[in-house]
Amino acid sequence: MSKAIFEAFDGYQGIVDEIDFSRKHGVDYTVYRDSVDQQINLLHPSRISLRVSDIIVESPSTKTLRFVSQDGYLPPFLAGQYIAFFLEVGGVRTRRPYSLSSPPNQTGYYDITVRRVERGRVSNYLLDEARRGDILEGSGPSGHFYFNPVFHDRTQVCLAGGSGITPFMSMIREAVECGLDRTFYLFYGNKTLDEAIFHDELGRLSGRFQNIIYVPVIENPPGGYAGATGLITGDLIMKTIGDVADKTFYLCGPQGMYDFCVPELQRMGVPLRKIRREIYGPPAHIWEDPAWPREIKAEDHFRVRVAGGKPIDARAGEPLLTALENAGLRVPSLCRSGECSMCRIKILSGKVFQPAGVPVRKSDRQFGYVHACVSFPIEDLEILT
Ligand SMILES: Cc1cc2nc3c(=O)[nH]c(=O)nc-3n(C[C@H](O)[C@H](O)[C@H](O)COP(=O)(O)OP(=O)(O)OC[C@H]3O[C@@H](n4cnc5c(N)ncnc54)[C@H](O)[C@@H]3O)c2cc1C
Ligand code: FES
Repeated sequence: MSKAIFEAFDGYQGIVDEIDFSRKHGVDYTVYRDSVDQQINLLHPSRISLRVSDIIVESPSTKTLRFVSQDGYLPPFLAGQYIAFFLEVGGVRTRRPYSLSSPPNQTGYYDITVRRVERGRVSNYLLDEARRGDILEGSGPSGHFYFNPVFHDRTQVCLAGGSGITPFMSMIREAVECGLDRTFYLFYGNKTLDEAIFHDELGRLSGRFQNIIYVPVIENPPGGYAGATGLITGDLIMKTIGDVADKTFYLCGPQGMYDFCVPELQRMGVPLRKIRREIYGPPAHIWEDPAWPREIKAEDHFRVRVAGGKPIDARAGEPLLTALENAGLRVPSLCRSGECSMCRIKILSGKVFQPAGVPVRKSDRQFGYVHACVSFPIEDLEILT
């Protein structure tokens, strides 16, 4: 019966003939299969060992950490991709993604540029404790926030906020160093001018290359500042780019920036399919989400039982993934922003709050799976990891 099903497939007889041929003539296809696996592992390793070779201070709150390979090889990446670091900080085993800020044509090292997050576990560790010579474990490069010549326009309108500048630095550096036929309008929002990472380099590049148009936008500008101030508004963007035709829009920054900028872009007539976003982690103040249940406070605590085990403590204002890691549980994760599905868990009982727009598969939703990195407990829970 099963043979009859296989025979119905196109190419079945060809495979049978090939197996017969290799049996007869002694061809060992596993040799080729192994060499393919080796190539795949080189291009997409799950873990890489990286040594901090330099630390560059970029601004009062930001440093670039430069990494060289411990294994003699750095996998290639596309400008805009990130790597995740696997670390143990304060006794807690955790992971955090950081976009590569160096360009992909620079094959000798990877740069990541880290901004301090108040009370943040990993950003403070990397900024204050990491030293030259330290060895860190990272993932291979991942992510979909890159230019695709088949689908995206050659004119990129980039909207960055704070540390969200990093993937654009990689793209712009690659474009100027490799002479790529692409134009970048970069709107870069910061609270103060001091906080604008790479401001001098971007100013120099836009002075030198016609295809790099840099527009810093400062919320609280210093006295006498002549540039754009306030927020990145649709009016400012339109005044600079002229029209929205033949342009793809890229956003990278804190949640508040998306909430403000996406409606502005839509008001300008930009269709959603032309807006590409990189989300930098879970919403910082989830309890301010309009749909958050008002009776629950950020500091409320709930009990989470994992597979019927001992209950652990979880705070409503903190992603469930963080609570699980704090309790010493190892849950796979990569993006920590609801995008990659690595941290899926099944809710057996109780409720979590998930912000709108988290891409959960229909079947996952149907069977009670959520992404722990963007799920916040609002009742006692029983879960399966
Ligand atoms: C794909 C991707 C690429 C990223 N690339 C970079 C990068 O190039 N440079 C960089 O500095 N960061 C980047 N981040 C953010 C980074 O992964 C961490 O989230 C950030 O460093 C904070 O981690 P933490 O452990 O210090 O804070 P946590 O201990 O995780 O969080 C502490 C508190 O700060 C809030 N918080 C978490 N992240 C942020 C944030 N980004 N802004 C404001 N509040 C926050 C949390 O809600 C929590 O309340 C990226 C994130 C993603 C998903
Ligand atoms: S870690 Fe990627 S979806 Fe949670």
